[in-house]
Amino acid sequence: MSGFRIPFNRACLAGSEMDYIARAVENGFISGNGPFCRECERLLERHLPGARVLLTPSCTHALEMAAMLLDIRPGDEVIVPSFTFVSTALAFASRGAKPVFCDSRPDTLNLDEKLLPEIVTGRTRAVVAMHYGGVACEMDAIRSLTLEHGLALVEDNAHGLFGTYRGRPLGTFGSLAAQSFHETKNITCGEGGALAVNDASLVDRALVMRDKGTDRSRFLEGLVDKYTWVDTGSSYVLSDLLGAFLLAQLENASVFQEKRLRIWRRYMEGLSEWAGSSGVGLPAVPEGCAHPGHLFHLMMPDGAARRRLIGYLAERGIMAVFHYQPLHLSSMGRSFGGRPGQCPVAESAGDRLVRLPFFASLSAGDQDDVIEAVISSRAVL
Ligand SMILES: Cc1ncc(COP(=O)(O)O)c(C=O)c1O
Repeated sequence: MSGFRIPFNRACLAGSEMDYIARAVENGFISGNGPFCRECERLLERHLPGARVLLTPSCTHALEMAAMLLDIRPGDEVIVPSFTFVSTALAFASRGAKPVFCDSRPDTLNLDEKLLPEIVTGRTRAVVAMHYGGVACEMDAIRSLTLEHGLALVEDNAHGLFGTYRGRPLGTFGSLAAQSFHETKNITCGEGGALAVNDASLVDRALVMRDKGTDRSRFLEGLVDKYTWVDTGSSYVLSDLLGAFLLAQLENASVFQEKRLRIWRRYMEGLSEWAGSSGVGLPAVPEGCAHPGHLFHLMMPDGAARRRLIGYLAERGIMAVFHYQPLHLSSMGRSFGGRPGQCPVAESAGDRLVRLPFFASLSAGDQDDVIEAVISSRAVL
């Protein structure tokens, strides 16, 4: 419980979650990769055409699988945005790679594709594109750069499920794409994730790595008469109890999405005039991008204005929060050579960005209160 009258996030229920969990218990199958998980994977595959989707315990685990599948090794470099969650870089760094931090575009805050040619070296193995707020990175430019240099393209699509770029779903551009079903995401099972394997040649190995490096999935399909240790891997399957919860959510996705997009548009309409006259930036959605209504942020003029706005809203029972602190300035980021001034856009966003309450069950009345409070904060900014 946040203690706020209007929290920043609230996980929303479709209604059938408890019923499906009870069914999983009655079925007697609650461990990994059971019937509910498989149904979730089929549903996700419909949203991500061409992908083989494997549920994982989190997006972080899916990114770790991606690093393992790409055979990332010590000495490799992997280009990641600085303005992202730790896992985008950690999954590759934990295999010994050096994360090379790329600054963001000032409009979308996504990895700035124009900077990529300067930071690709002979050691670069992969580029990780994270679609901030589900607004797509400039995928045409990023894809052509990765093709030109023979690099792997991975999508951290934690924010982007149901978003598109030039009509094509986010999560289908990289050879591998990671999804999150953490409590803060559009679709959740508390903690959960998925790896979308878009390169068919990686599917068999992904199945082995997800199941402790064994060929258990081939055994379950009756293709081998016993299963054994065949490759590296870990325990990356999701319990069917969580799969049951997730299926209820996925089946209700269109309802959640309609509500979220309506909330996003109301914020945009309600705050445009105030933002324009107060020097505050609102989210930018370039032509060709359709976002999934994941979050709504304000870019305040400076860090002090952000602090005052968050405090002003808190006094009115409204919880607003900041977001990523640039990774290149974290203590780990600095150990990889990160230094102040290296990614000025990410540094500025880290100081100035505020996210407003955003969840599918946010009522119109509560949203009006948030909008009114933001507009009336003018006096203290
Ligand atoms: C961009 C991004 N990537 C990865 C993650 C990690 O997701 P998970 O908690 O499912 O591991 C997050 C978490 O919020 C995120 O925002």
